[in-house]
Amino acid sequence: MADLRSTFIGIKSPNPFWLASAPPTDKQYNVERAFKAGWGGVVWKTLGEDPPVVNVSGPRYGAIHSQDRRVIGFNNIELITDRPLEVNLQEIKETKRKWPDRAMVVSLMVPCEEDNWKRILKRVEETDADGIELNFGCPHGMSERGMGAAVGQVPEYVEMVARWCKQYSRMPVIVKLTPNISDIRKPAEAAKRGGADAVSLINTINSIMGVDLDNMTPWPATGGYATHGGYCGPAVKPIAMNMVTEIARSPATQGLPISGIGGIETWKDAAEFMALGAGTVQVCTAAMVYGFKIVQEMTAGLSDYMDSKGYTSLDDIIGKAVPKATDWQHLNLEYVVKAQIDQDSCIKCGRCHIACEDTSHQAITDYVNGARHFEVKLEECVGCNLCAVVCPVENCITMVPMAEGSLDPRTGRKVGGHRTWKEHPNNPNAKLAEPA
Ligand SMILES: Cc1cc2nc3c(=O)[nH]c(=O)nc-3n(C[C@H](O)[C@H](O)[C@H](O)COP(=O)(O)O)c2cc1C
Ligand code: SF4
Ligand code: SF4
Repeated sequence: MADLRSTFIGIKSPNPFWLASAPPTDKQYNVERAFKAGWGGVVWKTLGEDPPVVNVSGPRYGAIHSQDRRVIGFNNIELITDRPLEVNLQEIKETKRKWPDRAMVVSLMVPCEEDNWKRILKRVEETDADGIELNFGCPHGMSERGMGAAVGQVPEYVEMVARWCKQYSRMPVIVKLTPNISDIRKPAEAAKRGGADAVSLINTINSIMGVDLDNMTPWPATGGYATHGGYCGPAVKPIAMNMVTEIARSPATQGLPISGIGGIETWKDAAEFMALGAGTVQVCTAAMVYGFKIVQEMTAGLSDYMDSKGYTSLDDIIGKAVPKATDWQHLNLEYVVKAQIDQDSCIKCGRCHIACEDTSHQAITDYVNGARHFEVKLEECVGCNLCAVVCPVENCITMVPMAEGSLDPRTGRKVGGHRTWKEHPNNPNAKLAEPA
């Protein structure tokens, strides 16, 4: 059986599934129940200085649901912990003592002053926690006070605080990044320069979930007024995975350990993040929506997947898809696929035809000899995949690569060889080379 044990920047856990810093890790009661359910570790809900922050007493969450009421996007305007620092520290110490084999990372956010960081680091160290995570990502409330995303958006601050933390603490330092920035590589590079052991990402994305059109108020609202919150859940997974990949493949940050966060609900989501370079994964929304026991499906699923592939340890997965991530200019423009419709499973709904006819390349029939019939016209199809995306029947439309050397009826050119934009004759700056 595959070995799921994880060692991430020296922090050991029985599996790579950690709960992210958020309500699931807000107190000992939750964290102990999470450990009982099988979570490999937690990042404790972000600690700050006393007196504690005050949360709104109105709705602090919002969601976007799929038609079958699944939560696909989640939003919150919650702040960091609203419990006294000493209470949290005592509970962290006690929980770590009772669960020594689990990863206990403590998330921190204090004002951007050296003394404030020095003070809190000393107190956290006394809990025997395994590491700290610097919350430079919280996009609401705390950022208005010069913390959270307000720090994460300025690489110089990221570097400076990471450096203080390494200087004043023996604990490994993870810098948690905000996605509310145009180039995620910049704060990651800054974290590395500051000596951070790892980065984690993503925190939540600035968002307004809707507008109450009767009252003309954005949602979620408190007392008739609303503010932007942080977006997370399955909808943000692609954004998070791109940012993880950017860091994993950038020469300046290559090899910097990453804890992947954002929309992870299943073992497969986790395996995808790991393949893109994440050493551990963190989960928040899925635990809030489905409860702690989802970790059991995650560990069992990951273990089964690894067994089925002959992978024995997490190192067999971590980063393995990174070399396949590249820039557009390196894609092979001589590679050709065509859509193919399986007539046996087609229910003749016509959605592929409408989509292709109205917004793609008019490459799918609707009637043939007076009868409803949906078939791809190979001489028009550009292989864009839109029909497969909109088809309600899974695997009814597949994208089939054309054989090397065959003739593409759309272009009249032979399929095959390798030519990127860099070599293409339409590129005014190309170094011309005929395809092989
Ligand atoms: C209600 C709520 C509260 C959160 N509080 C914190 C926090 O205190 N510190 C922090 O670093 N991240 C916080 N987060 C962000 C999560 O840790 C995580 O980065 C984000 O939700 C993305 O993961 P997910 O898609 O699995 O939810 C919070 C998220 C939610 C939904
Ligand atoms: S792949 Fe694109 S062009 Fe081809 S049939 Fe489908 S929608 Fe039309
Ligand atoms: S969308 Fe799918 S099921 Fe509907 S007509 Fe096209 S191929 Fe058939």
